[in-house]
Amino acid sequence: MSEVVAFIGLGRMGGPMAGRLAAAGHRVVGYDVVPGLLAAAEGRGVEAAPSAVAAVTEADVVVTMLPTGRHVLGLYRDEGLLAAARPGTLFLDCSTIDVADARAAHEAVRAAGHRALDAPVSGGVVGAEAGTLTFMAGGGAEEFARAEPLLAAMGARSVHCGDAGAGQAAKICNNMILGISMIAVSEAFVLGESLGLSHQALFDVASTSSGQCWALTTNCPVPGPVPASPANHDYRPGFSAPLMAKDLRLAAEAARANGVAAELGLRAAELYAAFAGGEGAEQDFSGIVRAVRQGPAPTSDQNGTTA
Ligand SMILES: NC(=O)c1ccc[n+]([C@@H]2O[C@H](COP(=O)([O-])OP(=O)(O)OC[C@H]3O[C@@H](n4cnc5c(N)ncnc54)[C@H](O)[C@@H]3O)[C@@H](O)[C@H]2O)c1
Repeated sequence: MSEVVAFIGLGRMGGPMAGRLAAAGHRVVGYDVVPGLLAAAEGRGVEAAPSAVAAVTEADVVVTMLPTGRHVLGLYRDEGLLAAARPGTLFLDCSTIDVADARAAHEAVRAAGHRALDAPVSGGVVGAEAGTLTFMAGGGAEEFARAEPLLAAMGARSVHCGDAGAGQAAKICNNMILGISMIAVSEAFVLGESLGLSHQALFDVASTSSGQCWALTTNCPVPGPVPASPANHDYRPGFSAPLMAKDLRLAAEAARANGVAAELGLRAAELYAAFAGGEGAEQDFSGIVRAVRQGPAPTSDQNGTTA
């Protein structure tokens, strides 16, 4: 069934996602505050609207792909999207935002007489272009069923994770595993270097042993063993370090708010914040191996020996 879709936020992810919806035969009316991005989306079959409010007035579904929860709630409430949409419109937020903001967005949408689904993605810009994203959805079963054909046009897989905010929860939990495991793999390679172990030897052992994980076998942080990994391309992203820092910050905030002793998650958030705020600003998140190699300031071990 063809739908009228308003698509707000036509950036690196939103542009290609909106284009895939248009290519699947939906009428897509788009808006972004950056005029150049709106023009680029027109080249993908998206109709340009003069404002976000104008984009949603005839929509069956409103998709948002925005930087933060503040942007999503700001558009929904302060910029009047909820008031401008027809009753019963499905608000599908694909941005990665705070779980609490996602729940607040669900409440605001429902209170305005509409329907809500949070559906953040993994798969990055490459997945958005290729239509191979994975969606993690939170909301009612009806809303998920209603959104499924659209999610199928933009991605390869969607998982209904539970009620309001469950999609965001799954996203930050998954990326906490990823952030921690990338640091673990990087530390192991740097320790191996100091012990005279070649990258290939460690890879050959760990990739077929209990150290096996995605950070090692797909996004290997050292050049050589996995030819397609960003380490072979001067750490060009890929999945950028600032985005990993953002997701870990959301995970750390959720852990603190819920009294969870996620010590490695909190430490990973600190390490990625420092890396992304400095030399990693434009790098793939696997570039953190360079920060591990440079090492921290000297510390004392339990015997008082300076390491
Ligand atoms: N880039 C990735 O690899 C990736 C992967 C998974 C998830 N995400 C998540 O997807 C979301 C979008 O990421 P992105 O890389 O496309 O970011 P982006 O910055 O390229 O795109 C966001 C867009 O929102 C627009 N925008 C901001 N405020 C607006 C407003 N009030 N009205 C209309 N447009 C507005 C911006 O101009 C920008 O074009 C983020 O939440 C991010 O965490 C990104």
